[in-house]
Amino acid sequence: MRVLGIETTCDETAAGVVRLKPGGGGEILANEVMSQIAEHAAFGGVVPEIAARAHVEALDALIGRACARAGVKLADLDGIAAAAGPGLIGGVLIGLTTGKALALALKKPLAAVNHLEAHALTARLTDNLPFPYLLLLVSGGHTQLLAVREVGDYVRLGTTIDDAIGEAFDKVAKMLGLPYPGGPQVEIAAEKGDPERFAFPRPMAGRAGADFSLSGLKTAVRLEAERLAPLSDRDVADLCASFQAAIVDVVVERTRAGLRAFRAVAGQPTGLVVAGGVAANGPIRRAIARLAGETGLRVVTPPHALCSDNGAMIAWAGLERISRGLTDGLDFAARPRWPLDDRAPRAVGGKA
Ligand code: KG4
Ligand code: ZN
Repeated sequence: MRVLGIETTCDETAAGVVRLKPGGGGEILANEVMSQIAEHAAFGGVVPEIAARAHVEALDALIGRACARAGVKLADLDGIAAAAGPGLIGGVLIGLTTGKALALALKKPLAAVNHLEAHALTARLTDNLPFPYLLLLVSGGHTQLLAVREVGDYVRLGTTIDDAIGEAFDKVAKMLGLPYPGGPQVEIAAEKGDPERFAFPRPMAGRAGADFSLSGLKTAVRLEAERLAPLSDRDVADLCASFQAAIVDVVVERTRAGLRAFRAVAGQPTGLVVAGGVAANGPIRRAIARLAGETGLRVVTPPHALCSDNGAMIAWAGLERISRGLTDGLDFAARPRWPLDDRAPRAVGGKA
């Protein structure tokens, strides 16, 4: 079984082809990603209108390239998957409409994939991880702890009530004059800094549930930076190190709370999956590995190319759905918000 996946929910235009391996798990035949970072860098963040236009321009050629790389003709595919949300609606419409057109013209089944579900299932593509497992998804757009019980069966244990963690890294970088995307820059600057110079808050520590909050921490960094201005290189390094130390503590404490919540709804997890762009952060990765060691859990960290937005993960989620008979009609509407867990209350002011 071979499925094409299309991703256009944010600032990457992507197309991938995956195939089901005989023993389970997946094989990536192609994974073509075109990042728009350069087009948005001048604005310090993603501009929806620019993103949508860039998707239109790039998508056709990218799909062609993915099929060529995979050595498949469109007619050989067993299904078409497109991310149908959550995301910037202009971009989502472009990818989903393209997927629908291909499915219609080729008479193939369509899977309208939830982008978060694709992140959630990536550990099965890479590591054939059995259900149920705990997912910590930390990127520029998402900060979630999810119990992944089955395809289509997710319990959201925690989410951010304000900023995503990657967004907090990016905003802190911006206020300290570091370039976008800021996460990697903050990590580099932090290496030379003193993590104890500033005692920044650890929001939500000890709170019931496993929700996150980052805006208070971000504000604390801003106030300190304004107090010290003009900032020396030393100040920037110390601010980054102290901010990152706070984030590491928050992630570990909230993940520990997520594990407790997990056991209440899904029993013993088969592993802890850490995904999303922020998972590239060394200190965060190491802290999570220590936590997993303490609790006897296997950690699965899919490679960065599969944790950041890409087409192979959409193709894989589509394959998991289509192989279970879960297909969608051409009337499926693009969704700017689409929580994976419909039972979860919407976090106040938070992301889907
Ligand atoms: O998953 P991703 O590539 O894209 C989406 O969010 O869709 O994540 C990007 C985010 C950005 O906010 C970036 O600053 C952050 O991940 N990031 C990092 C690091 N590398 C990327 N944050 C902290 N430390 C890093 N090394
Ligand atoms: Zn994503």
